[in-house]
Amino acid sequence: MVGYDEVYTRSLADPEGFWREAVQALEWQHPPQQVLDSSRAPFTRWFPDGVLNTCHNAVDRHVHAGRGEQPALIWDSPVTGSQRVLSYVELRDEVARCAGALAGLGVVAGDRVVISMPMVPEALVAMLACARLGAIHSVVFGGFAARELAVRIDDARPKVVVSASCGFEGARLVEYKPLLDRALELASHRVDGCVMLQRPEHPVALVPGRDVDWDEALAAAEPAGCVPVRATDPLYVLYTSGTTGRPKGVVRDNGGHAVALRWSMEAIYDTGPGEVFWAASDVGWVVGHSYIVYAPLLAGCTTIVYEGKPVGTPDPGAFWRVASEHGVKTLFTAPTAFRAIKKEDPKGEHLARYDLASFAALFLAGERLDPDTYEWAADLLGVPVIDHWWQTETGWPIAANPLGIERLATKPGSPSRPMPGWDVRILDEAGAEVPAGTEGAVCMRLPLPPGALTTLWDDDERFVDSYLARYDGYYLTGDGGYVDADGYLFIMGRVDDVINVAGHRLSTGSMEEVLATHPDVAECAVIGVADPLKGHVPHGFVVCKAGAERDEQALAAELVALVREQVGPVAAFKHVHVVDRLPKTRSGKILRATMRSIADGRAYETPSTIDDPAILDEIADALRAR
Ligand code: COA
Ligand code: AMP
Repeated sequence: MVGYDEVYTRSLADPEGFWREAVQALEWQHPPQQVLDSSRAPFTRWFPDGVLNTCHNAVDRHVHAGRGEQPALIWDSPVTGSQRVLSYVELRDEVARCAGALAGLGVVAGDRVVISMPMVPEALVAMLACARLGAIHSVVFGGFAARELAVRIDDARPKVVVSASCGFEGARLVEYKPLLDRALELASHRVDGCVMLQRPEHPVALVPGRDVDWDEALAAAEPAGCVPVRATDPLYVLYTSGTTGRPKGVVRDNGGHAVALRWSMEAIYDTGPGEVFWAASDVGWVVGHSYIVYAPLLAGCTTIVYEGKPVGTPDPGAFWRVASEHGVKTLFTAPTAFRAIKKEDPKGEHLARYDLASFAALFLAGERLDPDTYEWAADLLGVPVIDHWWQTETGWPIAANPLGIERLATKPGSPSRPMPGWDVRILDEAGAEVPAGTEGAVCMRLPLPPGALTTLWDDDERFVDSYLARYDGYYLTGDGGYVDADGYLFIMGRVDDVINVAGHRLSTGSMEEVLATHPDVAECAVIGVADPLKGHVPHGFVVCKAGAERDEQALAAELVALVREQVGPVAAFKHVHVVDRLPKTRSGKILRATMRSIADGRAYETPSTIDDPAILDEIADALRAR
């Protein structure tokens, strides 16, 4: 049997041969003759002359191959007490009608469609309908505020927005319509129309001349066929947090994405046609794009769409109920979900109520998997628990334990080894590779494999500046870490101003921008502070303007409300410290990294450039008092 070492080595020695073979798992209108085009490096393109349709490969192809009656999608919504199963035939028909409705609103290949929806089957239908037309979807997570949605609308300039009347956060009803109305008011870009899904729990009044009703539009539409597109044409733009308040529009192509995701399902997740795959995430994140929607469907699996939480909907046995009821083979979620379950059901008593005969593996990603949570899950479940590391930009795992190739020995705290195609190197400040065991910047040698981002939407320059300019010939991940003597990677966390809160990626810069707008705030800094449940939570440090005699608690409450209103509830911004000064270098740069070390109780050296070392004690006092 060919093992990991051989497969990995070959993928780097002969990338074209390696990925040419993977192409064959898909149907192409024009199979690519050329595998990699490096003529415009660093803008490399995979399968430049290939022509295909991603929706055809994810949906119609399986109907033609005799899987039409197999469930493609199972929607399980404990928050509304509903379930719905769509077979591949039913999914194809609904997607074709949705594509017809979008086409009726003027959407053609290359147009953008913003999708802002809760975890309902229609969210997937809308995404696949865009893919069917060759249109480019941009899904925006529902936990962001109207302003964040407006920023994304202005950047993507969609022809149409698809949304719903409401979502549910546990028992809380989240109104989507006012959020959309406000975002469209704030945005300078004008859309041609909105398709609104009316949920029976909370129908809303539609805006005449702007909104069309989902059901009516689909009922009236002619089913649309799949439009062949170039492999290099964009499939979607997904905004992710950068280090500033302006999100980055990660662009994914059609061909490389389909090839890589299809390949990953068997090689990494060991899940194949007819098997049930469940990514308990949200379609608004990359995990949702890749492993709720595209990868399982490209592989002919059944995907679970779950509208609920790990706990509280109704209890910490929710994951086990869903896994047992629908015969889940592979579950993928964030460590924070398991920490939440562990907190409420430390002995795993809820698990004992369910038969998990089909359950074969748990994959965790989105943030560091702490060894305690790993041990707890592994002991409880008795199946492989796989930590794997990736980013919105990469679209699929950079490092993992590839169950479909070879199950590697596990080292708690490590997402194991680099996956085929990812040439991971650890570099020092000067760009030299560091020896095993030494921490540095985690980078990948170019070219990146299929499925990785091809650029940032409408901003090639920012793409190069953000990822490629720091080290010539390498992609900068923004994570720090090391590789040990056995080739195992250890990710120690972000080295920039991005934080992961409950598996959600957020920019501290965007929160700082909001705090700075408060009339009483002179200056501020936001850092991520370790939290036993959410991994990290943001803490804001603010210095008041001279003369602003404010009650600290009242000011803190105003600032918390401001971030919730401007960034969104998902920021989980609840801690504000009013301080006299912020630690800065003599040139005025705020020492956020030192503040992070203090907050996490890690050893740090007082930077020689600091203007007044005593401020560090004040920061430590403020954190201790929280
Ligand atoms: N729409 C509207 N609001 C949302 C939202 C959405 N889609 N998602 C989250 N929010 C809100 C939450 O309701 C919460 O609001 P609150 O402050 O009023 O309580 C806030 O944003 C913070 O959410 P979260 O950090 O998720 O905290 P939580 O207490 O609701 O749940 C967990 C904690 C651990 C159960 C939850 O974060 C979880 O399941 N995480 C898994 C993360 C995940 O799937 N990540 C994707 C990568 S794999
Ligand atoms: P996102 O783009 O939202 O997927 O977030 C990507 C970031 O999450 C990475 O850059 C890491 O900082 C972090 N991350 C994701 N998976 C892991 C993991 N398995 N271990 C450690 N950090 C992770």
